[in-house]
Amino acid sequence: MTHRMNQYNQLNPAIEAQVEALLQQMTLAEKVGQLVQITPSIMPDPDQLTELLAKVGSGEVSIEALFKPRPDLEELVRTGSIGSLLNMANPQQINQLQRIAVEESRLGIPLIVGSDVIHGFRTIFPIPLAEACTWNPELLEQASRVAATEAAAAGIDWIFAPMVDNSRDPRWGRVAEGSGEDVFLGGVMAEARVRGFQTAVSPGGRNIAACPKHYVGYGASEAGRDYNPTELTERTLREVHLPPFAAAFAAGAGSVMSAFNDISGVPASANPFTLKTVLRDEWQWPGVVLSDFGAIAELVPHGVAANLKEAARLAILAGVDMDMMNDAYAPYLAELVAEGSVPEAVVDESVRRVLRLKLALGLFERPFTDETLLNQTILSDEARQLALEVAQQSIVLLKNEGDLLPLSPTKRVAVIGPLADARRDMLGMWTLFGKEEDAETVLEGVGRYAAALTHAAGCSLAGSEGVDETAVLAAIDQAEVVVLVVGEGANMSGEARSRSQLGLPGQQQALADLVAQTGKPLVVVLMGGRPLIVPRLLEQADAVLMAWHGGICAGRAVADIVFGAVNPSGKLTMSWPRREGQIPVYYSHKSTGRPMTGEGVPQFGEPFKSRYIDLPNEPQFPFGFGGSYTTFEYADLVVEKTAVLPPSSTLVVSATVCNSGSRAGTEVVQLYIRDLVGSVTRPVKELKGFQRITLQPGEAQQVRFELPIAELAFWDAQMQHRVEPGEFQVWIGPNAVSGLVGSFAVVAGD
Ligand code: NOJ
Repeated sequence: MTHRMNQYNQLNPAIEAQVEALLQQMTLAEKVGQLVQITPSIMPDPDQLTELLAKVGSGEVSIEALFKPRPDLEELVRTGSIGSLLNMANPQQINQLQRIAVEESRLGIPLIVGSDVIHGFRTIFPIPLAEACTWNPELLEQASRVAATEAAAAGIDWIFAPMVDNSRDPRWGRVAEGSGEDVFLGGVMAEARVRGFQTAVSPGGRNIAACPKHYVGYGASEAGRDYNPTELTERTLREVHLPPFAAAFAAGAGSVMSAFNDISGVPASANPFTLKTVLRDEWQWPGVVLSDFGAIAELVPHGVAANLKEAARLAILAGVDMDMMNDAYAPYLAELVAEGSVPEAVVDESVRRVLRLKLALGLFERPFTDETLLNQTILSDEARQLALEVAQQSIVLLKNEGDLLPLSPTKRVAVIGPLADARRDMLGMWTLFGKEEDAETVLEGVGRYAAALTHAAGCSLAGSEGVDETAVLAAIDQAEVVVLVVGEGANMSGEARSRSQLGLPGQQQALADLVAQTGKPLVVVLMGGRPLIVPRLLEQADAVLMAWHGGICAGRAVADIVFGAVNPSGKLTMSWPRREGQIPVYYSHKSTGRPMTGEGVPQFGEPFKSRYIDLPNEPQFPFGFGGSYTTFEYADLVVEKTAVLPPSSTLVVSATVCNSGSRAGTEVVQLYIRDLVGSVTRPVKELKGFQRITLQPGEAQQVRFELPIAELAFWDAQMQHRVEPGEFQVWIGPNAVSGLVGSFAVVAGD
C-alpha cells in the first residue's frame, strides 16, 4: 500500500527527535497514562442510557448534565495518568483540563480530545449512508471539512469517523453509519471523508485527525446483529473489508479504531494478524490504534481472556495502542511490564505513536482552543447550504408512476404520517451535538411550496395504538394529492439498533392502507437508516422517494424534490431486499455452479438452480439504482484497444449518455467489470468507476473511463495479489443490472 504521506502517517525526523526526548524522561506510569482515554464523567447506569440519550436528543437534557463529572479527573490529568479524553465539546472545560495537563503535569504533555462527529457537529448532514447515495465524493469532502471545522472550534482534536465498514446486511443498524455494500465506492468515500476532516483548519489554527473505524470486519456481524461474531476467510477480509481502511490510510488517516467483533475466532481488538501482519508489516502504517469503547474489556466475555489483566496483555501485544474506556491499561499495564509478560519496548512503541499524533496535530504549540470561536463557527450560512445540497443529492427516487412527481405548487396537498413533522428524527442517528431546533421538517418544507396544505400525523411512529382515522380522512378530504411520510425514527438505526424485520414500525402500514383506500394520488416519502422492506407500500404508492434521515435540511430537500425545484439524482449504495430472507443480497456476488442466469450445467434445469422457490433472487431495487424526472439513454460503448492489454496498461472505455427527457438532470454513470475465468471464483460484477454528469434536455456527452489494468488484481488461489490474464466483460450503465456491455482481454506479462 502506498500512503499519501502527510504529517499523520509519515515519520518526520524533527518529530521523532521530540518523541525520543520525551520518552527518555517518562516513567512507566507516565507512559501508560498516554495510552489511556476516558470520558470526563462517570458513565450513567447502562440500563438508563438509551432513555437519557433520547432526552439529550430532544434537548430536554444537555449532554454535559447527563454525565456526572469524575471527581478525580483533574488529579488524573495532573499526574499524567490519562492521555486523552472522549466525547467532550465544551471549550472552557477542555481548556481548563488542558491547562492542568500542560502547566501542572510533570512533563506538560497535552491531552488529545476525541469525539464522535459522525455526520456533522452542529450542522447535521444526512446520515452517512445517505451521503454516500450522492455518489459525490467532492461534496462529502466539503461536508467533512465543515464538521471538522465546527468540532475543532469546540476543542475537539480527533474525530472518530469515518465508519468505513462495508456491510451487506441491512438488519445491522450501523449500515446507517457507513457507505453501503461496495468495496470500491466505500474506498472512494472513505478517502473523501478523511481528506475533508484532516484538511480542515479551524479559524483558531487547530487541526483534526480522523479515525476510520471499526478495524475490521464489523460490518459482517452474523445475522446482522450488532457486536456479533464474524466468520471471514482471509480472502474475504482482504477483498471486501480491508480495502476501505487502506483507502483511508492512503488519504492520510493517522489513527484507526479496533472493532468489537471477533474475526473467525480471534477478536479484532486482540488480533495479531490484522493489527500486526497487515497493518504494520504489510502496509507499514505507523498510526495509532485506539480500542473501541470497552473492546479490550470485552475480550473477557468473548472468552479469550480470563480477566481484565489478561485482556490488557492480549490487546497491547496484538497492537492496540490506546485503551478507550476499558480500565484495563491503567491498572494492569505497568504490572504486566514489571512481571515480564509485556516487554516495556512494546509499551514504548505505542507511546511513540500517541506522542507522534499529538505532535503532528500541533498540540504542543497550540494546546488551547479559542473559547470565543464556537458560536461564530457553527451553523454558518455556507454550512447550511452545503447540508441542503447533500440532502438533495442523497434522496433516491424509487418509483414515479405516471410522472406524478414533480407536483405543481398549485395542488392542495395533505401531508400525513408520523414522520411528517418529527423534527428530532430528521437529524438521524449519532448526533451528539446536533440540536432538534435546527432541523426543518417535511411539513415545513412542503409549506414553502404548496398553495394549500393540511396535515395529520395519523399514528405514532412505533406504538401499537390505532390509526386516527378521523383526523387522517379530514386532512385528506379536500386534498388533490397525499404526501405520506413514514419509516423509521432516528433511534431505530445506528449502534445497537439491529432489526430482524425491516418493515414499517408500529401502525404505519395500517395508516398507509387507510390513505391508499381514498384513491388519492399518493407520494410516499420514506425515511430510515437502511433500506426498508415495504412491498405493499411500494405497490400502493404512485411515487416513492427514499429520503433517509436527511439532517437539518431534510424537510426542505424533500420539498425541493417533490415540487421539482431539484431533479433527484441519488442512487442506492445498498441493494434493496425484497424480503429479509434474501439477506445478504448484493450485486457483486459470485456466480455459483448453478447460476440462475447465463449458461448453467445442462442437466440441471430450472428447479435445481441456485434460487428460492418462493422469491426471485434479485433485490427489489439494485445497487446503483435511482430515478430522475428526466430520462438518460446510453449508446456507443467503445472499448479502445479492445483486444489484449498487458497488466501495466490502462483500459479506456467510453459511452455516450444522452438526456432524452425534457428537464435538466444529473446522472451517475457507472463502470463495472467481470473477470470471466479466474484461479478462484470472482464476483459477477465489480464497480470500478463512476462519474456524475449533468445534462440539459437533448444534450449528449461522451463519458470516458480510464481503468489501470493493475486495478483488476485480486487474491489468487495462492493468496498472491495479482492480475490474472484472461477475458473480461465491461459495462457502462445507470446501475448494477443494466447498461451497455463490451469485452477485453488481459495478456500475461509486459
Ligand atoms: C462505540 C462505537 O462503536 C464507536 O463507533 C464510537 O466511536 C465509540 N463508542 C465512542 O463513542
